Formats: sequence, C-alpha cells, structure tokens
Amino acid sequence: MSLADVAYMPETPAHDAEIDAINEEAFGPGRFARAAYRIREGGPHERALSFVATDGETVVASVRMTRIAAGQGRALMLGPLAVRPAYKNLGIGRKLVAIALEKAREAGHAAVILVGDEPYYGPLGFKRIPSGQIAMPRPVDPNRLLAHEVIAGAVGKLTGMVRHEDGRQAVSA
Ligand SMILES: CC(C)(COP(=O)(O)OP(=O)(O)OC[C@H]1O[C@@H](n2cnc3c(N)ncnc32)[C@H](O)[C@@H]1OP(=O)(O)O)[C@@H](O)C(=O)NCCC(=O)NCCS
Repeated sequence: MSLADVAYMPETPAHDAEIDAINEEAFGPGRFARAAYRIREGGPHERALSFVATDGETVVASVRMTRIAAGQGRALMLGPLAVRPAYKNLGIGRKLVAIALEKAREAGHAAVILVGDEPYYGPLGFKRIPSGQIAMPRPVDPNRLLAHEVIAGAVGKLTGMVRHEDGRQAVSA
C-alpha cells in the first residue's frame, strides 16, 4: 500500500456497506448508544459533505457530516470519523477532516461541532465549547464537545439540546 494510491471523494450510496463495516470495526456495537449517534438518527447525513478515502476499489476511511440545530444556532456535526487499522497514522484521518471542513465552508455552513478528543482535533481547528452551553441526548464528557467556527459568532448561537436540524428529536432513553 502506498499513500499515493489513496484517493478522496464524496461518499455515495455504493459506499454505505463498507462505511458501516469500518464504523463497526472502529466503534463496535456500542456506537448505537453514543450521544452523536442518537442525533444522527434524527435524519439523514449530508452526502455531498461526507467523504471517503479509497485504496483502489476499497474504502479505507470515512467521515460524515450531519446538519444539526441547537437553540438559534445551526451547524454541521462531524462524525463518525474512522480509518481502517492498516491505514492509521498515515494522515488519512486529518486529510478527511480538512476536506470536510473546506467543503462545509464553501457550502456556507457557519460552524462544525463534534464529540471527540481535543488532542487530535485541536490542531485541526477545533476548540472546546464552553461547558454547559449545549447539551447532548446522552451524557458526554464536556471536554470532548468541540467546535470549529467558520463564521464569527456562530458557535455562540448554539445553545441547549442539540438535535438533527430536520427536527426529529432524539430520544434520550
Ligand atoms: C482517530 C482516527 C480517526 C485517526 O485517524 P488516522 O488517519 O489514524 O490519524 P492521522 O494519521 O490523521 O493522525 C495521526 C496522529 O493522530 C494521533 N492520534 C490518533 N488518535 C488520537 C486521539 N484519539 N487523540 C490524540 N491523538 C490521536 C496519532 O497518535 C498520530 O500522531 P502523530 O502524527 O504525532 O504521530 C483513527 O485512529 C480511528 O479510526 N480511530 C478509531 C475511531 C475513532 O476513535 N474515531 C475518532 C472518533 S472522535
């Protein structure tokens, strides 16, 4: 495998089965109980802003974006991001995040939030959202609620419970 063989492209329905397998491998069955998953259940993700990395015909990594709302604020939520084990630590995850952020900005989205590790996402332009500003439908370590602001002031408008923008509220049970 050479990094030169890895290509990046918007995902299509043809990638779905492989993306599911990558997320199963990375997060296991517990992924369905995660706070971000509950929000993503509320509606579709944005195919045009979600990207895969491929090696030949094989999908080796995926990042998805979903429109969310919280109070008056609107944003995208990034995730899941997962890279096949044999392709980790080659810069593929960082590249997928960079592509997704750039396309989100071009599409006019004001902010991108996620639940993730600050040591990984901080250098990619994400900062902690002030504790208590937003809430998730499942408990989340507040230190892992991060945001990348595209338009000044956009993150401050995100308040209260985060939901899918289509309005189908996640059930917190
Ligand atoms: C996390 C993940 C997406 C990173 O993708 P990747 O392509 O392997 O990472 P990159 O090559 O872009 O970056 C590698 C660097 O990130 C670091 N890194 C990886 N995961 C990290 C984490 N959770 N926290 C801090 N740093 C991390 C690596 O140590 C490496 O550091 P280095 O450049 O100093 O050597 C990948 O390891 C993965 O799929 N993990 C399982 C699923 C997961 O945890 N997804 C993130 C959910 S928030």
